[in-house]
Amino acid sequence: MPDFTPRVFSGIQPSGGLTLGNYLGAITKFVDWQAKGTHETIFCMVDLHAITVPQEPATLRRNTRELCAGFLAAGIDPERSILIAQSQVPEHAQLAWIFNCVARMGWMGRMTQWKDKSGKNAEAASLGLFAYPALMAADILVYHATHVPVGEDQKQHIELTRDIAAKFNHDYGVDFFPMTEPVIEGAATRVMSLRDGTKKMSKSDPVDASRINLTDDADTIARKLRKAKTDPDPLPGDPTGLSERPDARNLVNIYAALSDSDPATVLAEHEGRMFGHFKQDLADLAVARLAPISTEMARLMDEPAEIDRILARGAERAREITVPILERTYEIVGMVR
Ligand code: TYM
Repeated sequence: MPDFTPRVFSGIQPSGGLTLGNYLGAITKFVDWQAKGTHETIFCMVDLHAITVPQEPATLRRNTRELCAGFLAAGIDPERSILIAQSQVPEHAQLAWIFNCVARMGWMGRMTQWKDKSGKNAEAASLGLFAYPALMAADILVYHATHVPVGEDQKQHIELTRDIAAKFNHDYGVDFFPMTEPVIEGAATRVMSLRDGTKKMSKSDPVDASRINLTDDADTIARKLRKAKTDPDPLPGDPTGLSERPDARNLVNIYAALSDSDPATVLAEHEGRMFGHFKQDLADLAVARLAPISTEMARLMDEPAEIDRILARGAERAREITVPILERTYEIVGMVR
């Protein structure tokens, strides 16, 4: 394998507001990578992925800008990282077409996200929803990204990205695409619903009380956490005591992630307390950490022209990387250049 430039890429769909799950599972990790400074960092609003299910155009545009505001408010610096809207860097979609011809139908059909989202009526799902992971592989590989920080739910898609890279390299007899590593770390790689600790916290859950939105104000954040589902038992002294208690485990994990700690340490400190008190502490912690972000997002949303300027500049910088990689890919597959 050739040496690849150490490069981090990750993306978030602008298909609704940002949740605490996106923040703890993804954005805080992006900020950590940016701070480390060991890798180039590229973060993307994947608007082309969002339209694999119906989107109202004006809402999609607003959500994309709001997602950009969320990145900025949470600490992504558009000078140190490259921030882009996927549709503004056309090489993503161009490489995705090549990967549509590399990936196999059977691979796509096995993706759990496809099965969940297409539901009982797969015939009516869009072709884009089925091909979704090939575009995701293109997002990553059009940068030759070496590391992809994500929440647990994206692991299968990164594995598929590796399969696509390996098949491309094998079929064309090259060592061109890297074997990208998923990075799934920390106490909150799978934040669960506040109403049902066995279900993932999701922006598409119809029940708003099931999630914290990054746009929620301090009172709303506190109220949702105080009302979060728990059980009547006190907190145990170590994580094994939570194995059969999904709601309790979820709140402990959220507390650990928000305080940059880990569940064992949190439990050692809170052993024997009742959840009524613990949830109040959790609410205070969450408000202290999240309310400034929602205030800053609101301020940035009053300056959409500034957001658009940041994205245009990001696309320009991104294309310095993607254009040569796409050109070389076209050469490898036999397009006349
Ligand atoms: P999306 O938009 O569903 O989520 C964005 C990121 O947030 C993480 N995440 C969570 N982490 C912990 N707990 C949760 N409840 C939770 N919900 C979401 C996700 O794991 C993800 O890291 N297919 C991707 C977007 C994408 C992408 C990419 C990601 C497109 N191209 C290339 C990485 C690299 C998605 O739908 O994420």
